[in-house]
Amino acid sequence: MTRPHIEPYCELNERWKKFDLRGFPRGSEYKVLSMDRDTGACSLKMRLKPGYRRPPGLSYSDIELFVLNGDLTIGERSYGEGQYIFQPAGLVMGAMASAKGCELLAYYNEGWPTFEESKESHSLALQQAYVNVNAYRDAPWIGVARRQPGVATGCLVKVLRIDPVTKATTFLYSMTAQYYQDNISYHDCCEESYHIWGTSWMLQFGDLPTGGYFWRPPYINHGAFASRYGCIALGRTDSELFNYFHFNPWTNPDENQRRAVAVLYRERPELWKWVRTEGHNHPHGPDDFESPEYREAARHLHAHGYDLHSHEHDPGEPHSHESD
Ligand SMILES: [Fe+2]
Repeated sequence: MTRPHIEPYCELNERWKKFDLRGFPRGSEYKVLSMDRDTGACSLKMRLKPGYRRPPGLSYSDIELFVLNGDLTIGERSYGEGQYIFQPAGLVMGAMASAKGCELLAYYNEGWPTFEESKESHSLALQQAYVNVNAYRDAPWIGVARRQPGVATGCLVKVLRIDPVTKATTFLYSMTAQYYQDNISYHDCCEESYHIWGTSWMLQFGDLPTGGYFWRPPYINHGAFASRYGCIALGRTDSELFNYFHFNPWTNPDENQRRAVAVLYRERPELWKWVRTEGHNHPHGPDDFESPEYREAARHLHAHGYDLHSHEHDPGEPHSHESD
């Protein structure tokens, strides 16, 4: 996922726009939180107006939905705030409706938002990946200390989904009132958050209030952290989140990346060796004199009187084949 660094941002004062993309029914609005301009993958805040209806259908991108408030019916089931759904690409979603209207976070992970009316799933849809859980009621809070000095006590998460291949993770997190953490962290992954309620503070970016949002590329310092009255937010990463901690606020992302490589060198030296040499080791095959390109060039030169394999002549001096 390549998106620009957006931080801090608050969407509450931005205006809603009509969501009139091809294929989608009318009656919804959106705000773009972030977007990958190469693929169209995006994070949106959406509003379905009272009486909204959409027939059953599917998308060509994985979708994640989180209900912020209001009512949302999908198929036979009705949901309220805190409902989280991971809808794999191609898996048919039942008819969607909202009687009183609702606000959602909607994430299209692979490409532009798409909707195709259908009552059947695509044959390649990964049905097993479907997740449907109420994040407020149906998932436990857990502590997130990862090594010491780790995340300070008082920051809790509810893991909603982990991609089995990439380890991309979607989670609810909460900081307690008077939360404080004095160290600085960065990751190998992109990190994204939407503040459902409350304000948190970071040394580099100041206050992030209700409606606050960030998309943070890898290796960017963030922390120390604090929250006076607590906060609750929906977070996402695009791969495994491993916290590198330190206390130097002046390092840049390149330095942090090199420091992360040093950690890899200490902990997994064989992998480090492979990463270091792969792709720029001694050339074999295509770059050797045995390559088809070289042989063709040698044949061409030979036909014009040069012989790259002769030691009896200066390779730059033309000579006839018969003289060898
Ligand atoms: Fe982080």
